[in-house]
Amino acid sequence: MRIIVVGGAGTIGKAVVEQLAARHEVIVAGRSSGDVRVDISSADSVRSLYDRVGSFDAVVCAAGEAHFGPFETATEDELALGIASKLLGQIRLVLLGRARIADGGSFTLMSGYIFDDPIPEAVSFAIANGGVEGFVRAAALALERGVRINAVSPGMARDSAEAFATFNPGRVPVEMHVIAGAVQRSVEGRRTGEIIRTHG
Ligand SMILES: NC(=O)c1ccc[n+]([C@@H]2O[C@H](COP(=O)([O-])OP(=O)(O)OC[C@H]3O[C@@H](n4cnc5c(N)ncnc54)[C@H](OP(=O)(O)O)[C@@H]3O)[C@@H](O)[C@H]2O)c1
Repeated sequence: MRIIVVGGAGTIGKAVVEQLAARHEVIVAGRSSGDVRVDISSADSVRSLYDRVGSFDAVVCAAGEAHFGPFETATEDELALGIASKLLGQIRLVLLGRARIADGGSFTLMSGYIFDDPIPEAVSFAIANGGVEGFVRAAALALERGVRINAVSPGMARDSAEAFATFNPGRVPVEMHVIAGAVQRSVEGRRTGEIIRTHG
């Protein structure tokens, strides 16, 4: 398969690329990194990504920002970052890619454990993750030509644990290959409309 991994140079993206590149042709896309540049917060940039890549069988998104900081002082704009970037950015990849993806292709978006086990510093992530999961379940009902869509909900990644463990007391980090394996199941399997969780 020819697979676009958006955010493929990031913490989770790198593990996903390592897992998929052994079996597929992988194109890494990122804002300032990878084979092709894209900013998922811009429709023109996403269109240009698809124009440059040409045909493809799968899109995996491990990119998108949200605000991290104390809820007590969070502003509307800060909380909305998760909607504008992580949520609408991923939705944009599907809306602008659905007519271009190969028959039977797949989209794999990313939510995260913060939706199921929130912390007050990550309200913007929780909002985005909930939106991503709702979008995936609904869009799966209507995508045509056998195109599938799933979300992977990573736990706290091993390679992020040093930065985030203090905010998540007792949370056990998830090994990178487990998260990458969940993405591989979404891309190579038959499931659609599912949230593939890597955390308890
Ligand atoms: N790490 C975790 O423990 C964890 C847990 C649960 C969920 N998640 C979710 O998993 C996803 C990936 O997380 P991560 O920790 O791997 O993040 P990361 O290390 O910050 O990597 C993010 C990657 O996405 C790219 N990116 C960011 N904004 C972009 C944009 N607007 N357009 C295009 N590319 C963009 C970045 O490229 P540039 O550097 O070039 O900008 C980078 O390569 C996120 O949705 C995150 O919320 C992560």
